[in-house]
Amino acid sequence: MAETSGETGKQRVKKRAIAVSVNVPAEAMSYPVLIGQGLLERLGPEVKRSSHGVRKVALVSDENVMPLYGAQAITSLEAQSIEVSVFTVPAGESSKTPERAVELVASFVESGLGRHDVVVALGGGVVGDLAGFAAATFMRGIAFVQCPTTLLAQVDASVGGKVAVDLPGGKNLMGAFHFPTAVIVDPEVLTTLATRELSCGMAEMLKHGALFSREHFEAVQASASGILDDAEQISSSLVGASVALKAACVSRDPHELGEAGKGRVVLNLGHTVGHALELLSGYEIAHGEAVGLGLRGAARLSERRGLCEQGFETMMTTALDTLRLPIDLDNWLERYDDRAMIRAIHADKKRSKDAVSYVALEGLGRPSVLALKPAEIVGILREGPSGC
Ligand SMILES: NC(=O)c1ccc[n+]([C@@H]2O[C@H](COP(=O)([O-])OP(=O)(O)OC[C@H]3O[C@@H](n4cnc5c(N)ncnc54)[C@H](O)[C@@H]3O)[C@@H](O)[C@H]2O)c1
Repeated sequence: MAETSGETGKQRVKKRAIAVSVNVPAEAMSYPVLIGQGLLERLGPEVKRSSHGVRKVALVSDENVMPLYGAQAITSLEAQSIEVSVFTVPAGESSKTPERAVELVASFVESGLGRHDVVVALGGGVVGDLAGFAAATFMRGIAFVQCPTTLLAQVDASVGGKVAVDLPGGKNLMGAFHFPTAVIVDPEVLTTLATRELSCGMAEMLKHGALFSREHFEAVQASASGILDDAEQISSSLVGASVALKAACVSRDPHELGEAGKGRVVLNLGHTVGHALELLSGYEIAHGEAVGLGLRGAARLSERRGLCEQGFETMMTTALDTLRLPIDLDNWLERYDDRAMIRAIHADKKRSKDAVSYVALEGLGRPSVLALKPAEIVGILREGPSGC
């Protein structure tokens, strides 16, 4: 991670930003993820710097975020003589549909957006995935800048270039790789975020630690209570550490083509079961919460398979509890019968023939990818914690 300094437009106060570079060797490109308090003010200059010749921006946001941060974003863009068209979608997963993406693309056409213009996503993972998918398909792909406003989107959804919408049969089934030209992460916007959403973001941070760094896992756990009581306590360096771990993994395997265990497929830790529960609950359970339950499931399966030490599930459950995430995996599993669970896991895009690439852990920082049939996964999880 490199440190850069920036200037705020109004106050001309020096602000320090952390810059993480994400490399996409196959496309001979890289893009910066800039992290720092107050960085939203630098949206305009960053759009201009990353997209030469930009005249117009399609600013996509949702009905919660636009009233909070839309004006700041527009001011910053207009100060660079960029014309802004605003598109506000309803908040929540129900906006991540092909129909909504088509509406957006049609609106880009109506507003006269051209090949050298830019789509800016200002919002959580839903807005990022939806606006990114629209940017990927409009005129076969135009530039895209991410301004993630949830913790989950800051540390995870906006890094890696995956954009998608959901189909009735499963999440993210229609999507693309469309790498942003820049990602601007301003932790200040997290002060208006609901505590539940902060917990969800911390679930993904914990996942990064579980996969790549015991130190980060412990740092996330140690800072959780303070952050959940007061979002101002979240530091750019903690967010930056998570971004850097994900960015390093994505840079090794930008298009998820890597050999099992060596590529970005490991980022699916907690997601196979998490996505299934999310889908079956009709999205009653939030994505980060579902990932948390999936992390507990992965710890259980790893322990039951003898991959890691005894007590691993208990350790993971304690960490999730500290993050104030749901830990009642068994109650959630009881809600759905085997057939429903198996079908939901099969709908997950990671399947290959009958088996899915299931990410387990040999310990903190030691992922292991197993080819498992959904029935095996469900069967092992239903056995309950080791010792039961
Ligand atoms: N592309 C990827 O790599 C990737 C990775 C992880 C998750 N995702 C996707 O991200 C989505 C979940 O993202 P999310 O958890 O950010 O949900 P979200 O986008 O629905 O945001 C959660 C809620 O917070 C509100 N909100 C956002 N920022 C706010 C702020 N600063 N202040 C107040 N309210 C704010 C939103 O309006 C919404 O109601 C899922 O669809 C998931 O599949 C994508």
